[in-house]
Formats: sequence, structure tokens, C-alpha cells
Amino acid sequence: MIKTVNLSKNFGDKEVLKDLSIDFEKGKTTVVLGRSGTGKSVLLKVILRLLSIDSGEVYIDNIDTTDFSESRMMGVRRKMGMLFQGSALFDSMSVYENVAFTLREHTRLSEGEIRDIVKEKLEFVEMTGTEGLMPAELSGGMQKRIALARTMANNPDYIFFDEPTTGLDPITARTINELIIRVREHTGTTIVVVTHDLDSAAMVAQKIVLIKEGEKYFEGTPDDFQRSDIDFVKSFRSGGKDM
Ligand SMILES: Nc1ncnc2c1ncn2[C@@H]1O[C@H](COP(=O)(O)OP(=O)(O)OP(=O)(O)O)[C@@H](O)[C@H]1O
Ligand SMILES: [Mg+2]
Repeated sequence: MIKTVNLSKNFGDKEVLKDLSIDFEKGKTTVVLGRSGTGKSVLLKVILRLLSIDSGEVYIDNIDTTDFSESRMMGVRRKMGMLFQGSALFDSMSVYENVAFTLREHTRLSEGEIRDIVKEKLEFVEMTGTEGLMPAELSGGMQKRIALARTMANNPDYIFFDEPTTGLDPITARTINELIIRVREHTGTTIVVVTHDLDSAAMVAQKIVLIKEGEKYFEGTPDDFQRSDIDFVKSFRSGGKDM
């Protein structure tokens, strides 16, 4: 599991995360919902320690990582996969090389073993046979699938998705949501999704956390979210995706 306790982050005198305490439970999908600019990407980057912590704590697998050095965090990050906002594939590499990338960087597997893993992960995201294509030849939804295959290549314990459905048409978005569900069901990976997409949250989440300007306004099940009479939850629900 991952747990943040009273986590705060500032840029200059701008407070971006304020006293955020969130439990990301093992084997479940937690969706952090919030409007644009509210600190969702910053939250992920602080958990991964791509940005430093100003105050509060971050626990990963029950270990307080708050004061971990960069080299210890690098070890922790090996267990984590991150799909950044946008697809973030390497444009100059084929699909095969993209998916193989982490394996080449972090393991000493033989080419045959790498080929088997790439094949298995491409099958999982239903992109079999695309090994030789370049990212530019793929649609946005397909690029997301390949990025997921790459993230899954080293079997991470955690996967973080930053806005996985943004910019996709509703049907493609649905297929990506279905894939996020399938990852959890088939691998037991603990998943964190940050998004402003309410439909996506309703579909994939076991838990929803709603934040506004870096503060937590709600934490609970999707059912509780639908029933909540907290003013900001009601306004977010009625505003839907545009909020
Ligand atoms: N490296 C940085 N330096 C200074 N300010 C930053 C930095 N990163 C983010 N911010 C600021 O922090 C705030 C939150 O940004 P963040 O990217 O987390 O928003 P978000 O919720 O992910 O929005 P979106 O839905 O548009 O992706 C913004 O005001 C942003 O300008
Ligand atoms: Mg963002």
C-alpha cells in the first residue's frame, strides 16, 4: 500500500498540496479526481519523489520513505510503473524497442527472454503484431496501450496513470478504462489514477478521492461519491468532465 500523511508541497509561496492524507490500498484502484491545475500530477510526482516533499510523510509498503536518498528512491521506483500524461513513448523507437526499454535498462535478460515478455505484454494490451511499427503510426489510444505494455514489462507492484483518458474519444476512453480494470484483475497491481474524468473514475475506482486546490474534499467508494451531499462533490458531479 501507499499512504500519504499530511503531505504538503509548495512552489515558492504557492501551496499546491495541502495536508493531504490518503490511503492507496493494496490491490485496489484509487482514483484521485480534481479539476485541471489542482495538484494531481504534482501528487504523483511527489509520491515517486520526482519532486521533493515539503512536509508530511509518504509510506510505501509500510516503510516511511520521506527521508530516502535519491539512490534508495531509485530502488523503490523499480517497483512502480508510471504512465505520464500524454503517451510518452520514445518517438524514434519501434513498439518493440519501447516495450523492451525498461528490461534492457534494468535486467540482464537474454534477447529471447525479452522477446517473450514483449510478446506477452503486447498480447495483454491487445496490440499483438505491432512490434515493428513506430509510435507516429499509432492512434492516441494505441499509443496508450503500448505505454501500458512498456510499464507492465517489469511487473510493477504499483502503476500510476496520469490522465489516461484525456484527449481520447469516448469509445477509446472506455477501452482504456477496461484495460485498467483488467490489469488489476489479472495482476493484482495496486493502481492509482489521477484524472478529471468522472466517467472513468466511476468505472475503474474502488475508491475515489476528490481534491480541490491540493486539499482533500472527499474520500470513499464510488457509491458513497454518488450519494455524498458535500457541496463540492455535488458541484463536481453535476459539472461532470468540464469541471
Ligand atoms: N515544477 C513546478 N514548478 C512550479 N509550479 C508547478 C510545477 N509543477 C506544477 N506546478 C503548479 O502546481 C499546480 C498544480 O499542477 P498539476 O500539474 O499538479 O495540476 P493537475 O491537477 O495535474 O492539472 P491537469 O489536470 O491540468 O493535469 C499548478 O498551478 C502548476 O502550475
Ligand atoms: Mg496533470
